[in-house]
Amino acid sequence: MQRGPPGFCIWLTGLPSAGKTTIAKELLPRLVERGWYADLLDGDEIRRGLSADLGFDRKSREAHATRVAFCAKLLARNGSIPVVALISPYRSSRAAARQEIGRFVEVYVSTPLTVCEDRDVKGLYKKARAGTIKEMTGVDDPYEPPEHPEITVDTVRFTPAQSAEFILGELERLGWMPKA
Ligand SMILES: Nc1ncnc2c1ncn2[C@@H]1O[C@H](COP(=O)(O)OP(=O)(O)O)[C@@H](O)[C@H]1O
Ligand SMILES: [Mg+2]
Repeated sequence: MQRGPPGFCIWLTGLPSAGKTTIAKELLPRLVERGWYADLLDGDEIRRGLSADLGFDRKSREAHATRVAFCAKLLARNGSIPVVALISPYRSSRAAARQEIGRFVEVYVSTPLTVCEDRDVKGLYKKARAGTIKEMTGVDDPYEPPEHPEITVDTVRFTPAQSAEFILGELERLGWMPKA
């Protein structure tokens, strides 16, 4: 039976408010326009369902990433492109996801902490600074930046649409998809 091209996972990692969800949402219609199946696996959304039982301690964050990676693996092996938008603060979790999924492109949304804190989409940095919440990534919980991401996007210099276009260009250049 004729099958389409194999899928692969685009894994966006970065601090809270870095722009992962925003860029993922710019990316999805562009992938679909090019004829791919694509699905958004957004960390916050999955925390409302599949990961609703998890907190923000290290073990919980690792479990969250493991679950998301499992879903992404199923999608990628069936020809879709799962676009994962997940803080995924630990290098070891991302390495495990890479191992599990196999076809894996790590995209570092490299927005500096000061910029993320200015954006503070959900007001969590403010709460963390005030001490009303704990385990906030970038404030009192670690974020380990990727050492060798396939792609790094700079949201200070580029708009979300430009970042999405940049990612597509890099995916072409790296051989993950044919040139449009
Ligand atoms: N160049 C940019 N790229 C991505 N997001 C940006 C950019 N400039 C401003 N923003 C804003 O920053 C916020 C990023 O939030 P979000 O995508 O939810 O972050 P994350 O999913 O990483 O926590 C959004 O409000 C978005 O509109
Ligand atoms: Mg998000």
